[in-house]
Amino acid sequence: MIVLGIDTSCDDTSVAVVKDTTTILANVISSQGIHLDYGGVVPELASRAHLTLLLPALESALQTAQCRLADMDAVAVTRGPGLIGSLLIGLSMAKSMCLATGVPLVGVNHMEGHIFAGRLSHPALTPPFLALIVSGGHTQLMHIKDWGIYDLIGKTRDDAAGEAFDKVAKMMNIGFPGGPAIDRVAKSGDAQFVDFPRSFLDKTETEFSFSGVKTAVRTFLMGRTEEENNRDAAHIAASFQEAVVDVLVKKSIHAANALHLKHILITGGVACNTRLRAVMTATAGEAGMSVSYPPPVLCTDNGAMIASAGSFHFSQGNISSMSLAPDPRAPLVMP
Ligand code: KG4
Ligand code: ZN
Repeated sequence: MIVLGIDTSCDDTSVAVVKDTTTILANVISSQGIHLDYGGVVPELASRAHLTLLLPALESALQTAQCRLADMDAVAVTRGPGLIGSLLIGLSMAKSMCLATGVPLVGVNHMEGHIFAGRLSHPALTPPFLALIVSGGHTQLMHIKDWGIYDLIGKTRDDAAGEAFDKVAKMMNIGFPGGPAIDRVAKSGDAQFVDFPRSFLDKTETEFSFSGVKTAVRTFLMGRTEEENNRDAAHIAASFQEAVVDVLVKKSIHAANALHLKHILITGGVACNTRLRAVMTATAGEAGMSVSYPPPVLCTDNGAMIASAGSFHFSQGNISSMSLAPDPRAPLVMP
C-alpha cells in the first residue's frame, strides 16, 4: 500500500510518500522562511507560500519515491486543525489529484498525524500508551488505547507549550521559531537562575496553562536593563525552559501512573527539545516507564505522519468524500 501525504496546516509545506504505514519513501518539507521577519506565522503569507511551494514539493516527493500519482492507493491530506487558508490549499490540491486520477481521498486529523509520527519512527510501538503532543498550537495528553481509539486526558487552557517558547524567544529577541533558539541558548545557562512559576493548577489536574510563565518572563525582563537581559540570556532561557519542562514531565508521569500505562510517546515540535527529552527519559525511568520520541524531522510538521495516519484509515475502509471541508478546529476526540 502506497499513500501520498500532504500537510499544509501551518507554515511548513510538506508532501510525502509512505509504503505500508511505516516505510518512508519520500518526505519533502519546505519551510517558509518568510515568517522570520515577523517573529511569528502570518496566516495570509503562509497560504500564499503554500501555493507556490506545494507543486514543487509534490514533484520532488514523487521523484524521490520513484512513483507516479497513479501508483498511489490513496491521497491523505490534513483537514484540520490548522490555519484555514493553509488547510484549503492542501485540501484543494489533494481533491484535484483524486478527481484527476480516481485515487481515493483520506482526510486526516493533524493531531493524529503527530501520534503516527511515533508509529513511523518506532514500528514496534504498540498501544496502549500515553502520548504527550506538544506543538506550536497544541499541548495535549492522550490515552492511546489502540490505533484510532483515543481519550483526551488533558489539554492547555491557554497557550500551547510551543507558543510560549515562540513568544518568550520573541521577547528576548533570540530568533524564530523560538523553541530551537531557546533550546540552543539555554544549553550554557543556569536553570536555577530565576524560579519562574510552574502552573501545576491542581496536583491531580491534567490540564496545562503556560500563559502565566510567559507573563512572568515578560515582567522579569521589563524589570531589568537591556544590557542585563542580554548578558543573562542563557540563564533566563534555561530557567524558562526548565519551568515548562518540569510541568510537562510531572503531569505526563502522573497521568501515565493514574492510567497504569508503562510507555510515554512525546511528539510534536516541542518534542525536539533536548532538555524535555532528557528529563522525561530520566524521570520516566525512575518511575519504571519507558519513553519514545520521533527524530526531530518527524516531530515537527511533516507529510509522512499524515500519509502514515492516512494509510491506517484507508486500511480500515475510511475514505473521505469529495465534499470534505477543512476544519481549523477539528477535534481528534469529541468532547
Ligand atoms: O509540530 P510543529 O512543527 O507545528 C505545529 O503543529 O504547531 O511545532 C512547532 C513548534 C514551534 O512552537 C517551535 O518553537 C517548537 O515546535 N519547537 C521547539 C523545538 N523545536 C521546535 N520547542 C522547544 N524546543 C525545540 N527544540
Ligand atoms: Zn503540528
